[in-house]
Amino acid sequence: MKAIHVLNGPNLNLLGTREPAVYGRESLADIEKTIRALCAGKGVSCEFRQTNSEGELVTWVQEAGRAGAGVILNAGAYTHTSVALHDAIKGSGAIVIEVHISNVHARERFRHHSYISPVAKGVIIGLGAQGYQLALQALLEAPAA
Ligand code: DQA
Repeated sequence: MKAIHVLNGPNLNLLGTREPAVYGRESLADIEKTIRALCAGKGVSCEFRQTNSEGELVTWVQEAGRAGAGVILNAGAYTHTSVALHDAIKGSGAIVIEVHISNVHARERFRHHSYISPVAKGVIIGLGAQGYQLALQALLEAPAA
């Protein structure tokens, strides 16, 4: 895997101040710094992005699929609603690790279903911001397909 795209969905720009009891105190910029350093250490290029727009996430997933990049995707609330993201992953062939900072299964029922999981290579849930690092490790250590 020569390139990693870390794609973050709605409200993840608020990390650090958003419900710290649920999401912790690390900001998205903190997570980005860690992931960029790990990618640089492995000689892998890194795109790190956040958007509040579903369509933009769809476009970015397609782009990552075309580029053959590994994707770390925290789609935020779109995880639970977006058939469009499901289709984008399936249609583009993007290799996606789904990440959630919080344990969505220990939260409200509407967070228990994911449109991403059936088309993801793997899922990391509830391990805090460390989930991004674990996803990166999984992508970088995966045997070539
Ligand atoms: C989240 C969980 C989602 O249910 C929520 O809408 C988010 C963040 C997480 O990282 O724990 O925005 O994806």
